[in-house]
Amino acid sequence: MKFFVTGVGGQLGHDVMNELLKRGHEGVGSDIQETYSGVADGSAVTKAPYVALDITDKDAVEKVITEVNPDAVIHCAAWTAVDMAEDDDKVAKVRAINVGGTQNIVDVCKKLDCKMTYISTDYVFDGQGTEPWQPDCKDYKPLNVYGQTKLEGELAVSQTLEKYFIVRIAWVFGLNGKNFIKTMLNVGKTHDTVRVVND
Ligand SMILES: NC(=O)c1ccc[n+]([C@@H]2O[C@H](COP(=O)([O-])OP(=O)(O)OC[C@H]3O[C@@H](n4cnc5c(N)ncnc54)[C@H](OP(=O)(O)O)[C@@H]3O)[C@@H](O)[C@H]2O)c1
Repeated sequence: MKFFVTGVGGQLGHDVMNELLKRGHEGVGSDIQETYSGVADGSAVTKAPYVALDITDKDAVEKVITEVNPDAVIHCAAWTAVDMAEDDDKVAKVRAINVGGTQNIVDVCKKLDCKMTYISTDYVFDGQGTEPWQPDCKDYKPLNVYGQTKLEGELAVSQTLEKYFIVRIAWVFGLNGKNFIKTMLNVGKTHDTVRVVND
């Protein structure tokens, strides 16, 4: 199968592309930077076809994905800085990426009749449940801008497409990009005591 993967300069997209290529699929990666900007680890993604694409640019999204003509899109790109998303001057941009960008991709998938996987988050819920969420549970209750915009991205997918997967994940970490484990390792080098969370 031929895949188009967004966010290959980030944590998950990097690993998704490598996994697809390892399994013998064809993959075209994309991210907002001019050239591949992830870790230079010599892995398959660093040598794979790459297209610079700002997913908020509707015309560019339409043009690029139509030219690639994939069987499936795996949409890993997003605004992922959860705390910074709360800043009043950032909200419009967060929404433009997580909702508008997703809608742009959805629209091309619809036109091309191509499958789409949207990566979402546990933040679409309020975290107060007492048992595991059922896959089709719709008791959404995002508590922050990031969760709200990721939910609106989910709805853009589910209200437009028939062939899609929505995969909710949490606590992503890998070799590429920033993550909690790397932050803790760095903070551990400079502090005797680290209070991670106090809520
Ligand atoms: N990280 C987590 O713990 C976590 C938890 C739950 C769900 N998720 C979801 O999992 C997915 C992957 O997360 P991740 O941790 O791999 O994220 P990440 O490392 O932040 O990667 C996201 C990538 O998207 C790019 N991007 C941002 N705006 C863009 C735009 N307008 N056009 C094109 N690309 C753009 C980013 O580029 P810049 O860095 O240059 O902005 C970055 O390379 C996301 O959908 C996220 O919401 C993540």
